[in-house]
Amino acid sequence: MTQTRHSHCQPGQGMQVLTFVNQKGGCGKTTTAINLAGALARRGERVLVVDLDPQAHATMGLGVYGAEGPGAVEVLLDEAYIEQAIRELPSGLHLLPAQPRLGEFEEVSERMIHPEQRLRFALDAVRDRYDYVIVDCPPRTDGVLCANAMFACTTAMLVVETGAFALQGALQALRVLEEVGENQERRYPIRVVGTLYDRRTRFARELLVALHSRFGTAMFDTVIRTSVRLREAPALGVTVDVLDPDCRATADFAALAEEVCCAFAEGAEATPLHAGTVQESNTADAALPASASEAAGPFSAPSEALEPSGPNRRPTP
Ligand SMILES: Nc1ncnc2c1ncn2[C@@H]1O[C@H](COP(=O)(O)OP(=O)(O)OP(=O)(O)O)[C@@H](O)[C@H]1O
Ligand SMILES: [Mg+2]
Repeated sequence: MTQTRHSHCQPGQGMQVLTFVNQKGGCGKTTTAINLAGALARRGERVLVVDLDPQAHATMGLGVYGAEGPGAVEVLLDEAYIEQAIRELPSGLHLLPAQPRLGEFEEVSERMIHPEQRLRFALDAVRDRYDYVIVDCPPRTDGVLCANAMFACTTAMLVVETGAFALQGALQALRVLEEVGENQERRYPIRVVGTLYDRRTRFARELLVALHSRFGTAMFDTVIRTSVRLREAPALGVTVDVLDPDCRATADFAALAEEVCCAFAEGAEATPLHAGTVQESNTADAALPASASEAAGPFSAPSEALEPSGPNRRPTP
């Protein structure tokens, strides 16, 4: 594991908390979260992965099974200090693991005051120890676990599968994020990362163009291609760079990590999309290719919501 920081960009602006979110199940949130974490750690960044999904896929994907001792739920319940619950993995990554008991937090939290603020305050204790905290969310976005992830985040990372209904799914997800932001009285930047990209299909290529057109600079240039290695790596409990340093998935995540480091470097321009600007911003559905439009099917957003000007428009400060 490389421990020296190397980036074309300046060091970052303090601990960044990136929450990987989308209410669509199986769209690549966990895969993207843990492999970006691996790629950032390989660059010498200090990275903590927080698994807030009771399915514990990030935890298992990083090689921790049936973890004994405190984990995320004990931290959220204030039964353990976060430092006690964080595991150091052989790869150099740090992990706040999920256990099935994490699901209980939804019910218990009904008797708490501001249960959605627990993670944020817990992370305050380790603010000086990490450059990046990568939070993996469950697909359920209306629950208290996702609310914790959103309240703690400095940026919401919307993971979009570049398949059928991708654009509509992304717009729906943005509206959900907007609602969460309104409920929490917060505005956080949103970045979009495309995944499960198969460039052999014309549909996927056209859809990617449409997504870039819609989200402008909020969308990372790097798209994560479909790769068998990304299915194999979690089964072995490692990130893809450990499994195969020379495969294309490792290259994709290295490129994404470079972009992420540049995006959060000191002095980098603020990201252009915020929850709260979704309704007023345009989509490039005008630019959605015919094949992609057809696939949009019944979930197409109404045209008036898709029309106005300037897909790359930045929000007013
Ligand atoms: N780029 C990719 N190439 C190939 N397979 C992928 C890729 N990204 C994700 N997958 C596979 O797709 C499936 C779903 O991915 P993942 O578990 O990351 O989705 P998720 O959004 O976290 O799901 P959930 O909503 O259940 O948490 C997994 O089997 C994973 O291995
Ligand atoms: Mg997941």
